[in-house]
Amino acid sequence: MAFNSIFKGKKVLITGNTGFKGSWLSTWLHLMGADVYGYSLSIPTNPSMFETLKLEEKIHQHYGDICNKEEFNDYVQEVQPDFLIHLAAQALVLTSYREPFETMTTNIIGTAVVCEAIMKIDWECTCVLITSDKAYDNVEWIWGYRETDRVGGKDIYSGSKGAAELVIKSYWHSFINKMPNIKFGVTRAGNVIGGGDWAKDRIIVDCVKAFSEGETVEIRSPKATRPWQHVLEPLSGYLTLAQYLAEGKSENGEPYNFGPRAEQTKTVFELVQDLASLWGLDRDKVAKLTGDIPFEEATLLKLNCDKALSYLNWHSTLHYEECVRFIAEWYRAFYVEKDKDMYALTEKQIKEYIDEAKKQNLEWAF
Ligand SMILES: NC(=O)c1ccc[n+]([C@@H]2O[C@H](COP(=O)([O-])OP(=O)(O)OC[C@H]3O[C@@H](n4cnc5c(N)ncnc54)[C@H](O)[C@@H]3O)[C@@H](O)[C@H]2O)c1
Repeated sequence: MAFNSIFKGKKVLITGNTGFKGSWLSTWLHLMGADVYGYSLSIPTNPSMFETLKLEEKIHQHYGDICNKEEFNDYVQEVQPDFLIHLAAQALVLTSYREPFETMTTNIIGTAVVCEAIMKIDWECTCVLITSDKAYDNVEWIWGYRETDRVGGKDIYSGSKGAAELVIKSYWHSFINKMPNIKFGVTRAGNVIGGGDWAKDRIIVDCVKAFSEGETVEIRSPKATRPWQHVLEPLSGYLTLAQYLAEGKSENGEPYNFGPRAEQTKTVFELVQDLASLWGLDRDKVAKLTGDIPFEEATLLKLNCDKALSYLNWHSTLHYEECVRFIAEWYRAFYVEKDKDMYALTEKQIKEYIDEAKKQNLEWAF
């Protein structure tokens, strides 16, 4: 099932696998026949995709803090993974204002702990470390950011991700690039949406909860635009990079952006209305506009993804309409058709996504 079957029968260790992206990634890798090992602090939400899909019964799970250097190193040494994918983070912008120190610790020290563990690996291992589009120093311009642009960040979350990039860069140049057994890459992607997300302060989550309870959803920034992309898009990018690195088709130690098509940039209000229509509701009656923005939001940050296209033959697959359809289908099944097999539905969506990528002749899909 895709990626030249490189993950079949391989041990893949994912940090932060109980979260939104991690649950989709664990499911996809499990479906491809990988032996999935997870290392996470806890299950971050209730409900959660991790529990809904009963992933703990399908993979090997270890609960631990990514800032605990000894515990994480011991786990890596015990598992001896063929692939290591680092997702664990304090991933919420609003939480970063409430818990700045904890955000800095998890996102920066946690990344250093992962690099330290990689330095002790003495078998062949491909490592992909995930930061964020917010790692870029947002200079409020209209152009997409390229991998060569400066990292930085004025707010706490962005600063923590910019700093994680510097940690990765210095460990790479000082130590890891001298290790012939290690393949290593860094990825930066933006906001993702999809079924199975229940994180705080995310618009889709607010919408589906309100829709399922027959209430209106409060929108604090209706005109804000986001480059919406389905969670499967960056995941196909991470896995393509891992495949290319493992097969020696991609240069070692490089960062890659994975972003959506330009046309995916819609307002929050448009997204809410489109989701409501697919839910079978009156699109003009579902939202209450509050205009109450708790913190200053930076202007739209876009990614230039030419490098991923040129070197990995990757571009995003789904159009906006398909992306919203996937989301409505997933949450309606959860909230409305209550006895639906959510694992089977998730598997169906992953297969549909791969089929769509095949139609577009994307190499990773074969
Ligand atoms: N979701 C997005 O829109 C988005 C956008 C850009 C980048 N990212 C990045 O992708 C990654 C995954 O994001 P997500 O949306 O799945 O986040 P999430 O909040 O849903 O999940 C975070 C995961 O990290 C784990 N975690 C948190 N603190 C930890 C700690 N101290 N030790 C061990 N594990 C810990 C949690 O248990 C959970 O498994 C993060 O690095 C995030 O910054 C996410």
